[in-house]
Amino acid sequence: MQKIGILGGGQLGRMLLQAAANYPVETHVLENDGHCPAAHLCHYFTKGDIKNYDDVYAFGKKLDAVTIEIENVNIDALEQLEKEGVQVFPKPAVLRIICSKALQKSYYSEHKIPTSPYLLTHNIDDLAQNTDFLPAVHKLAEGGYDGKGVQVINDKSDMTKGFDALSVLEKKVDIKKEIAMMIAVATDGKMVLYPPVEMVFDPSLNLLAYQLCPAELDREVYFKAEAIALSTVRNFNSAGIFAVEMFVTPQGDVLVNETAPRVHNSGHHTIEAHYSSQFDMLWRVMLNYPLGSTDAIMPSLMQNIIGAEGFSGEAYYEGLEEMLKIENAFFHIYGKKETKPGRKMGHVTIVSNEKADLLHKANKIKYNLSVVTKEP
Ligand SMILES: Nc1ncnc2c1ncn2[C@@H]1O[C@H](COP(=O)(O)OP(=O)(O)O)[C@@H](O)[C@H]1O
Ligand SMILES: [Mg+2]
Repeated sequence: MQKIGILGGGQLGRMLLQAAANYPVETHVLENDGHCPAAHLCHYFTKGDIKNYDDVYAFGKKLDAVTIEIENVNIDALEQLEKEGVQVFPKPAVLRIICSKALQKSYYSEHKIPTSPYLLTHNIDDLAQNTDFLPAVHKLAEGGYDGKGVQVINDKSDMTKGFDALSVLEKKVDIKKEIAMMIAVATDGKMVLYPPVEMVFDPSLNLLAYQLCPAELDREVYFKAEAIALSTVRNFNSAGIFAVEMFVTPQGDVLVNETAPRVHNSGHHTIEAHYSSQFDMLWRVMLNYPLGSTDAIMPSLMQNIIGAEGFSGEAYYEGLEEMLKIENAFFHIYGKKETKPGRKMGHVTIVSNEKADLLHKANKIKYNLSVVTKEP
């Protein structure tokens, strides 16, 4: 039986392991926290630091293949493992590019993939030198996640919000829609593509409110997005699963924002709403099985369940029992012991042929389910 390891034990690892249970595979997880969401779903748990060379090398050395649920891992160790014959999904060379927003941008330029024009800044003075480039978005080249490490710089007065380290300064895009496409690549290079999803943001919280699949796009924009996402992923020359985030402008232009070379938040809905989920698909890739069907069974809406403001401590899911009465709403509680304001604690996927039904149920859940602590 193949032995396959996951670097990271969060919710993505957890859902990947749920799908692994259907296949003949021995699963391993490397993570510091023995109580992480994925810890009790794998065959073998190893306590260790995914950013540490020795920990990652020792973990991977005994395995046939390794994958990731987060990009921030020790890439040197993965390169060494790859040299020694361990398969790595995605290839470490791809991780090198993805881990730096600066290298990602130059990758897009090099391969003529449409993306917002940009320049690099090395410190805050560099930013001050480029006021003619504003309005722009300043992005820390390394170490940012979930919007931390991204600042909108509209004019000179925003300049102090910028980063005093290597960063990308890219032109602010007039965004009509943010969409994402998941693509799976088999070891023989065959690619399959999920229908695009549309992210809807909460303007007051600057946070993902919910996500719809399929995205509502004009045919022409749809095909453009598909072609751009495919060429983005094809040029990585790596098997695995990828999420390509894109902006659609009011003029119908499609620009790549960023790519994640792994299972992704924007593919959660595929568990219930698609024949082969992103997690099922990655096992098919890694085990060298035929790829699954990416077709939608039904349109869907996915909403994250996040920790409520003002509550930190042992998580309590207020209203969950009542919400479970809702038809065709599928709840995933990640099993994180502690809640914090804004922390991703779970998600719900709703499936329906009616958009109004999707939105109505999502709203009901938004206002009636909250992640709090028993004692505030
Ligand atoms: N060039 C841009 N123009 C306008 N908005 C942007 C631009 N780049 C990013 N954003 C906004 O900021 C969000 C986070 O940026 P992103 O680069 O995806 O960072 P992260 O790695 O934190 O996800 C995007 O989802 C988008 O809403
Ligand atoms: Mg992003």
